[in-house]
Amino acid sequence: MFGKIIGTGSCVPEHRVSNQELSGFLETNDAWIRERTGIGSRRVVDGERPEDLALAAAKNALSAARISAEELDMIVVSTLSSNHMLPSVSCLVQRGLGAKRAMCFDLNAACTGFLAAYNTMQAYINLGIVKTGLVVGAEGLSRITDWSDRSSCILFGDGAGAAVLRSDPEAEFATVMHADGEKGDALTCEFAYALEEGYPGTVLPVAPEEKKRRTLIRMNGQEVFRFAIRQVPACIQELLAQENRELDSVDWFLLHQANARIIEGAAKRLGAPIEKFPMNLAEYGNTSSASIPILLDELVRDGKIRRGQRLILAGFGGGLTWGATKVTF
Ligand code: ACO
Repeated sequence: MFGKIIGTGSCVPEHRVSNQELSGFLETNDAWIRERTGIGSRRVVDGERPEDLALAAAKNALSAARISAEELDMIVVSTLSSNHMLPSVSCLVQRGLGAKRAMCFDLNAACTGFLAAYNTMQAYINLGIVKTGLVVGAEGLSRITDWSDRSSCILFGDGAGAAVLRSDPEAEFATVMHADGEKGDALTCEFAYALEEGYPGTVLPVAPEEKKRRTLIRMNGQEVFRFAIRQVPACIQELLAQENRELDSVDWFLLHQANARIIEGAAKRLGAPIEKFPMNLAEYGNTSSASIPILLDELVRDGKIRRGQRLILAGFGGGLTWGATKVTF
């Protein structure tokens, strides 16, 4: 038996930063950013921590699912930008919700993270260990963004999205997941302490400027772009072939909101109508593992995604990692 999504929720910071604002301190402009990425603005934390966003999204998802926190058996949070290693964000969410019975852990698969969390929850449900579980994608990327690098900082934003799953005899599940660690250098961000002189395990202590650079997101945009445009449609096709399904049996394709050109390119390669590839990146930018559940929640709340519809969620990002998951809503 697998789990069915019985409630979704999301939360983004109030503070909105437009492309025009970025052009105030960077050599860039609204037209370039919109044309190359589709992004018009992003939300940036202003005092909120990623765990605050995660908790608010989780509360919204529980209220949509009309269940109490005590009913949760497990909480899995996907994040690459939490404030600390211990306690995990999932334990902080558990504390905030009062979900006393829930087992908790975080995972990090960069922008593929929500898929990894969702798939993990399905595996636990399928084993009979979990009946009701909460999955969350939560990021405060603005804190690890290099605001002097115009080729990366224009992309990222903060936010969180969540879904409650409950075991259901009618629920369906299928996935394909991949990683290519050989290409990991295309997207990196290192812990500051690991670059300190005297820290056990430091290979070479680095100069302060170099340290600052390496502890913020560094990206080879073109390489990530080429990877995504090729692998995202390929893994969606792989999933459809595995399931013996036709492309037109899918009602919605919810892709990680990295760049409108990547999403349009994937739709074109697949030969599927772009209308089935909803986007909200114009408003929020790339929120890494939060982007798919934020989009899912918006579409559910707008009544666009309806019960019984077939969805494919597809994520891709650092690692490199990528994958596609079938969801029957
Ligand atoms: N404003 C104006 N000009 C810019 C900007 C900017 N913000 N950024 C770069 N440029 C310039 C470059 O300097 C370059 O100038 P040059 O020709 O004089 O050297 C020119 O624009 C073209 O640069 P490209 O890098 O070729 O631009 P491209 O069309 O590839 O767009 C972008 C760059 C938007 C980053 C694109 O490569 C991209 O979206 N890649 C995918 C990135 C991504 O999705 N990453 C997230 C993965 S998910 C995760 O795990 C976090």
